Amino acid sequence: MDNFVFHNPTRLIFGKGQLEALRNEVPAYGKKVLLVYGGGSIKRSGLYDQVMSLLREIGAEVTELAGVEPNPRLSTVHRGVELCKSNGIELVLAVGGGSVLDCAKAIAVGAKYDGDMWDFAERKAVPKDALPLGTVLTMAATGSEMNGNSVISNEVTKEKLGWGSKLAYPAFSILDPQFTVTLPKDQTVYGMVDIMSHVFEHYFHPTPNTLLQDEFCEGLLRTVIETAPKLVQDLENYDLRETILLCGTLALNGVLNMGLSGDWATHNIEHAVSAVYDIPHGGGLAILFPNWMKYNLKHDVARFKRLAINVFHVDPAGKSDEAVALEGIEALRSFWNSIGAPSRLADYDIDDSQLEVMADKAVRFGPFGNFAVLDKQDVLEIYRMSL
Ligand code: NZQ
Ligand code: ZN
Repeated sequence: MDNFVFHNPTRLIFGKGQLEALRNEVPAYGKKVLLVYGGGSIKRSGLYDQVMSLLREIGAEVTELAGVEPNPRLSTVHRGVELCKSNGIELVLAVGGGSVLDCAKAIAVGAKYDGDMWDFAERKAVPKDALPLGTVLTMAATGSEMNGNSVISNEVTKEKLGWGSKLAYPAFSILDPQFTVTLPKDQTVYGMVDIMSHVFEHYFHPTPNTLLQDEFCEGLLRTVIETAPKLVQDLENYDLRETILLCGTLALNGVLNMGLSGDWATHNIEHAVSAVYDIPHGGGLAILFPNWMKYNLKHDVARFKRLAINVFHVDPAGKSDEAVALEGIEALRSFWNSIGAPSRLADYDIDDSQLEVMADKAVRFGPFGNFAVLDKQDVLEIYRMSL
């Protein structure tokens, strides 16, 4: 293992009826709240009314930023920063999926910065201060509810960049599985693909002696694989939603990261695709990850073999290590297909016309990946395999 420090400052408030916790959490930070939400799902589900009535009861003064896009845009972040500065906002409260949370994180740091928040995404500056942030999550996927990461799309330059800061961790996050039952099937599937992908990004690492971390990863993957087929048939099942919601948080809150550094190349490769084509993140990952795996099999066949046996129950008898490993990757592809995830870029009408543009975006900060270091030619090959 590598040396590590684990510190996660987010207070995770999980379970049925936990929205009530807003009564204690919000006043701890002040009265003036910026409520950030998306394109209307929280109004249709009734969550907006519940949040507003609680905020009213505790005497909060609420300013609203509605309409945060999936793949949240920099212009929306700018609107939020402006609202914070002109209204003396004391707490940013995000209610929605990962996009709403990521946008709120960018607003929280942007509100305490004189320049453009995009400087943080471009690595030109690092946040020195931030408004406190609270979240109410409505979708299991990104883990944004308990990490310091955020991904913002600059619609002018067509770039989608992740950034992170210890100042961007939510101070508190409320997760009631009931708020996720209205999520439609396609987004539910994208979310579960994203969760599994976060585990894969940790699982493929070059660090020795990580037995416990590997077992954690495999257990999390098996849990999603057991739950996902049931959930896509029974979207309103509370218990299944509850399981997936906790999986989503644990897949990217730092727990799997103890003592190792994951790969994260596939996320970078996907972000370049959704920067150009604005496709759902989980859909892009479903297409790309099995191809990243095939392309990088040679770097550590034993690890892929272990995944095939321990997670996809491939029988190794009489087969070469490589054959077992490949069978595992095929099993992943079949599993994702079976729950309704896309498998080719063509599923989003993406052809080969922008591959160079996307590959240039992926290598913007140089070669990347920790399990296998990739350059532009490698990225192009993975895109070609995914057409
Ligand atoms: O906008 P509304 O109307 O709320 O609808 C959303 C949106 O259309 C809808 N939705 C969410 N909860 C719902 C619901 N509809 C009905 N009922 C509910 N309970 O779902 C749609 C997608 O929401 P979005 O927030 O975009 O999805 P997700 O949580 O997958 O977030 C995706 C974004 O997060 C980034 C992605 O790149 C992408 O921009 N990521 C952030 C990470 C992080 N902060 O750590 C890591 C991830 O790897 C990822 O890159
Ligand atoms: Zn992801």
